[in-house]
This record gives sequence, C-alpha cells and structure tokens, in this order.
Amino acid sequence: MTPRTDCAAMETPTLEKLLREAARDAALSPSSHNAQPCELALLSSDEACRALAGAGAPLGEGVYVAVALDPARCLCALPAHRTEMLMSGGIYVEALSIALAARGVRASLRWRLGGVPPAVVRLLAPWEPLAVLHLTPAPVDAGAVALLPLLAARRTNRSPYRSEPLDPAIVEAVRAAASRAFPESSEECGLVALTDRNVLVRAGDVVARYGALEFTHAAAWHETYAHIRFGPEVIRQAETGLPITHLLAKQLPGWQQALLRVLLSPASIRALRPLGLARSMARQSGTLLERSGMLLYLHFHAEDPSEATQVAAGGRLLATWLALAARGGALHPVSVMMQHPEPRQRLISELGLPPGRGFFFARAGVPAEEMPPAPRRRNAAERVRTA
Ligand SMILES: Cc1cc2nc3c(=O)[nH]c(=O)nc-3n(C[C@H](O)[C@H](O)[C@H](O)COP(=O)(O)O)c2cc1C
Repeated sequence: MTPRTDCAAMETPTLEKLLREAARDAALSPSSHNAQPCELALLSSDEACRALAGAGAPLGEGVYVAVALDPARCLCALPAHRTEMLMSGGIYVEALSIALAARGVRASLRWRLGGVPPAVVRLLAPWEPLAVLHLTPAPVDAGAVALLPLLAARRTNRSPYRSEPLDPAIVEAVRAAASRAFPESSEECGLVALTDRNVLVRAGDVVARYGALEFTHAAAWHETYAHIRFGPEVIRQAETGLPITHLLAKQLPGWQQALLRVLLSPASIRALRPLGLARSMARQSGTLLERSGMLLYLHFHAEDPSEATQVAAGGRLLATWLALAARGGALHPVSVMMQHPEPRQRLISELGLPPGRGFFFARAGVPAEEMPPAPRRRNAAERVRTA
C-alpha cells in the first residue's frame, strides 16, 4: 500500500483519530461465538483514492472507511453461519456509527455489500467489505452520546431471568427500536416480542425437542467447541470466544472447567450420546426460556433476503439489544433454533409466528444476575488498517 498523498482533505488527521477512538467502542459489539470477524480499513492510499475516484466518490471532504469481514475469523460450519456473520457485521457498523456520531462524525453509507466497487473489493482482499462509510464532520449527536455507555454495558446474559411480567415500557421500547445505520431494516425485517406465558411454555417445549442439535450436529459442535475457553488462565488471556463460566453463567473452579473440557469435547459428546447429555442440556435451555420475561423473534419478510439485507438486520438487532440494556434488560440468543430448517419451521407453526425467514431467536428480560464482560480483541484502535 502506498501512503496517502493528496486525495483527502485537511481534517483527515482528526477524523482518523476519532475513527480509532470509535473503533474501541465498536469492538465491544456482540458477534456470534464472539468470533469478532470485523475489521476496519481507512481507504486513504493512492490506490484507494484512485479506486474511489474511479467509482465516482467525491474526494474533497472527509474520509472513506470500509467495514469488512475477515474470512479467517468467520464461522462456516453451517449455511446459517453466513447470515450470523453478516448480521455480526451489521451490528458492528451500527455500533461504529453510534460511536462516531457521539464524537461529531457522520458516517454515511456510501456502498454496501453487493454494490462495493470491484477496485475497492480487490484492494481489501481477502477481507470482504460489507459497507463503505463516508465520514464527515457533523454536530455531536446527543442521542448517540446517550447510547455510548450502553455499548459497554450491554451483555449476553445467560443467567435465569425474572419470570414476573415485564414492564410494558420495556416491551414497547424493544418493538420501537430502530437502526441508525440501516433505517431500512425496519421495513425489511419484523420483530415479534412475545410475553404470553402459554406461548413461552410452548416455545420452551420446541427448544427442549430441538436444542440438542447444537451438540449432535458434528461439524457445528466441532466449531463451537473450538470457540469455548476453559480454565481461569485461558479465560484471562482470551481475546475471542466463549468462556465456559459465561456459557454456564456461574463461577467454576479450575478442575471443574478441566473436566468440562473433556466432557464437552466432540469425541465425548459422540460417545455419551446414548446417555442423553445433549437432550438434558436442551431441556434445561427450554426451561430457562419458558421462565424468562419475553421471547424475541426477528425475521426477514422475504424467504431469501439479499446479503445486504442480512447485514442491515444486524443494525436492527443491536438497536433492540441496546434498548433492552437501557432499561436494565438483557437477552440470551438461542441460535440453534434458527440454524436448522426444522426447528425454524416448528417455531412458526407451533407459535403462530409470521411467515418469512427467521434469523434471531432469544429469551429476554431482566436477568437475576449481572454478567462480566466477554473477552475482546485488544488494540482495536491500532488495528485500523490503512488501505
Ligand atoms: C448473531 C448472534 C448469534 C448468537 N447466538 C448465540 C447463541 O446461540 N447462544 C449464546 O449463548 N450466545 C449467542 N450469541 C451471543 C454471543 O456469544 C456474544 O455476543 C459474545 O459471546 C460476546 O458476548 P457479549 O454479548 O456479552 O459481549 C449470539 C450473538 C450474535 C450476534
């Protein structure tokens, strides 16, 4: 890459500094398996400027930034993981847009997946650009400033939730939450928030019946297991992945973590299948869901949405998650139910959900316990690459 020469305007150093600061906040965004597949590239090399100019982007003001997926970090065991990675990318774009707006930087979506100019795609390979944002100075956005602390406070909380009826204001806020980066996502996907106890019981039953797929689908479990972190020291050092103590929502001594590392290995899961370990874990998951305050279901209206729509859905999802966090709520996704066609269909038929491709299913509510932050890749600001 050749360094930037003349294509960017005067304020580039400030915008770049603010981008790096915002990258630290965006790094806190949730991703499936905590794989953190997103990378940031500042498009400011001579080559990038030629590519941008060739594609008709005005170069006089601001800077251009690409949010890209790193294929080496992407989950791939199931076709549905592609959707999860695209959504994780959309979540990241949403978080970055909030973090920038809170610092007086507008991030306008210049191109999105499917429309990124080929010269920019080539420049970033093997990373896959999901969105190219044009950053320009703007007044500090007070709404974004209010959301900023929530990016850090939000958690996936896998502890039990209070089962008493939820404050209707929480349910309303979740239904109304809209993406800032992808406003169109409110049209492209629907959100169902269910609080009726009978429906929750029926949903818990479907989870109990199908949840074992999480462990019994060999390729998927192999990949999931590789993301689980066992042992206090390993967890302390981890930058990605799922601490076993977070998955089980409890503190465990080192020896128990070592035992679980063996018990949950793909070989043990296969060997112990006749004992019903996977089914028993699925039943527990169903019970947790049934006793939560609310069930969240997000779906595309279309059966086969474009990949750009799947990225945009991530924006809606983060907006929903932050709306919960703002009111002391949390959620716990049960993605296995969206990853396989049969449970996906069962949920629609047994709960009377709207048609269209389901892409997110979670229990939600007010958790009984707080959860510590999950591991994160370090040096987010320094990792912003210049392309
Ligand atoms: C698209 C998506 C799917 C997820 N699916 C699951 C899931 O099935 N089970 C689960 O326990 N967590 C799930 N998570 C939560 C992630 O594991 C979590 O975001 C990550 O570990 C980081 O933790 P944090 O959300 O507390 O920051 C999912 C997250 C996303 C974005």
